Amino acid sequence: MKQRENFGSKLGIIMATAGSALGLGNIYRFPVEAGNNGGGAFLIVYIAVALLIGAPLMISEFIIGRRSRSNPIGAFRTISGKRTPFTLVGWGGVLSAFLILAFYTTVAGWTLGYLGKSILNHFGGQDLPQIQAQFTAFVDHPWLPIVCQLAFLAMTAVVVLRGVAKGIERWSKILMPLLLVIMVVLCVKSLTLPGAAKGLQFLFQPDFSKITGKVLISALGQSFFSLSIGMGALITYGSYIAKSDNLVSSAGSVVLADTLVAILAGIIIFPAAFSFGIKPEVGASLAFTTLPLVFQQMHGGYFFCLLFFLLLVIATLTSTISLLEVIVAALTEEYKLKRSQAAWLGAAITAVIGVLATISMRSSNPLAIGGTSVFDLLDHATALYLMPLGGLFIVLFVGWRMKKADTMAELTNDGTLRAGIRKAILFIIRYLCPLAIAIIFISQLIK
Ligand code: PFF
Repeated sequence: MKQRENFGSKLGIIMATAGSALGLGNIYRFPVEAGNNGGGAFLIVYIAVALLIGAPLMISEFIIGRRSRSNPIGAFRTISGKRTPFTLVGWGGVLSAFLILAFYTTVAGWTLGYLGKSILNHFGGQDLPQIQAQFTAFVDHPWLPIVCQLAFLAMTAVVVLRGVAKGIERWSKILMPLLLVIMVVLCVKSLTLPGAAKGLQFLFQPDFSKITGKVLISALGQSFFSLSIGMGALITYGSYIAKSDNLVSSAGSVVLADTLVAILAGIIIFPAAFSFGIKPEVGASLAFTTLPLVFQQMHGGYFFCLLFFLLLVIATLTSTISLLEVIVAALTEEYKLKRSQAAWLGAAITAVIGVLATISMRSSNPLAIGGTSVFDLLDHATALYLMPLGGLFIVLFVGWRMKKADTMAELTNDGTLRAGIRKAILFIIRYLCPLAIAIIFISQLIK
């Protein structure tokens, strides 16, 4: 049998997983969600959910992946020794990967388009109404956003073609640290804008009366989306993790980095939004209007704007790579397709749904189903339903279906790492995670 590829180093694992986690979910979706759900109140709930549910779930996915050395569909079968209803969770993961990739590449295409705009200096000397009008014109353009989206999908396929270590890992290791540096620079700039304090207040001052069931559900959906959990991406990456790696510390580092970057994005966007009088609840255009405006205020704004959109493209690319990798791993291992065939086929199927999502974002709101755009439908179906449901069954599988000795062997690397804290983590996986996810999920269904 062909030797399965592995990530080459511990740093490689963290960077590739962080590459999957960090993306539009942090820089684009988090501020929108926080804006719609009361700012500081949302942040607190979000952090609690990420630590208490997100991190144990990420560890669970790593356990399933490394134990089975398989794609999400094969993973549940391999560990169970036969097909069980849990195999459906793997299928659900692959379906989620298609659906997420479809609408994710809509915004990914925008980032590419905006990189082009910043190279051509389209924002130079523009004020807020002009920059807002540019956004609408871009989204409403008959073919430009579609071309950008397809180009992004093609780029993703080209990296995934090259495989795990040479493609995914190598790129993530260069690009992730760069992203962090540029974000810190932008933070400093945003904080020095007049009126920045109001934005910080919005982000950090929790108004506990704003914590409602809706905030809880949104925070759960956001944490799943942002951490790439509940749909098999990290089962897939877990299957490339070496036996000697410490799963708990790797997952911990990624959750920490992901939360930090979301907060950094908030620190960049909210002070700037308040400073320019943009409502934090504006939704889709938040990142695409506030940021170009901030750059107008800076020395070297042209350069920073370009760099920022370049990095946004890159952060997005490392996420789309992980989504396509789920599909490719499943197609190559379950259906014996060649890696190149699988990558192009996955991209082509995604493109069909994805183009509909892109068209549905036009301001005339075409293709609305029951008043909701295809884009929002895909976003909600995955973040609010498929991922929490997938996550629920993943923790149930690791906590109750796998042999406890096997789970502990993965957690402690066959007894070479200390068991104490890992026993507590297993307890959280068995009791707290399923209960919390089920309660939040069912309360949402009842509503
Ligand atoms: N975590 C990514 C983000 O925050 O942008 C989105 C994502 C990537 C979700 C990969 C799921 C996934 F498998």
